[in-house]
Amino acid sequence: MKVMVRLCKNSDFEIIYSIINDAAEVYKGIIPEDRWKVPYMSRDELRHEMDEGVVFWGYEEDCKLIGVMGIQHIQDVTLIRHAYVSQARQNQGIGVKLLSELRKQTNRPILIGTWANAVWAIRFYERHGFRLVSPKEKDRLLRKYWSIPGRQVETSVVLADQEWFDVFQVEGNDT
Ligand SMILES: CC(C)(COP(=O)(O)OP(=O)(O)OC[C@H]1O[C@@H](n2cnc3c(N)ncnc32)[C@H](O)[C@@H]1OP(=O)(O)O)[C@@H](O)C(=O)NCCC(=O)NCCS
Repeated sequence: MKVMVRLCKNSDFEIIYSIINDAAEVYKGIIPEDRWKVPYMSRDELRHEMDEGVVFWGYEEDCKLIGVMGIQHIQDVTLIRHAYVSQARQNQGIGVKLLSELRKQTNRPILIGTWANAVWAIRFYERHGFRLVSPKEKDRLLRKYWSIPGRQVETSVVLADQEWFDVFQVEGNDT
């Protein structure tokens, strides 16, 4: 079997769209009901994210994409955006392969936003060295670097890598 993590192409658009919406089904009943919809991410929203600079990488087996993860360089940080592995293939080590590749693509501090109730996603990032920032700090960061509705800010968390804490987190400024 030929396996690789590669940069996605324009022609991958439909498969990225299906992976996101298949994987996001696990959010049903977990994220706030008023934030859940079908499809979870429309084609227009996905196109908009790409136009705003989210670049997707994919995990491929025998020429078939199974998982995707986006990276977006914005101001002085890099965001990991829209991490999704097809439901049938979650918890098999694909997410970590994507995350490792994306981390090689930047020298900037990395931030990741996710739903506060997506405990599996928070644990996944924590296992790989990311830490939750304080509630006050996450509100500030989500407003500074993300374009998401206020309601999503309320119900999300932000995790940061050690470099972000070293560079930006001046001790005592967040109490
Ligand atoms: C979050 C997500 C992207 C992670 O991808 P994944 O492929 O499932 O993640 P991995 O398999 O690499 O790691 C997940 C767990 O599987 C375990 N695992 C890793 N490699 C494994 C392997 N070869 N065999 C069995 N289990 C393995 C790990 O212990 C890990 O557990 P942990 O999270 O407690 O550390 C994926 O689960 C997903 O799409 N979830 C739904 C959408 C979502 O929550 N996205 C996050 C938005 S920011």
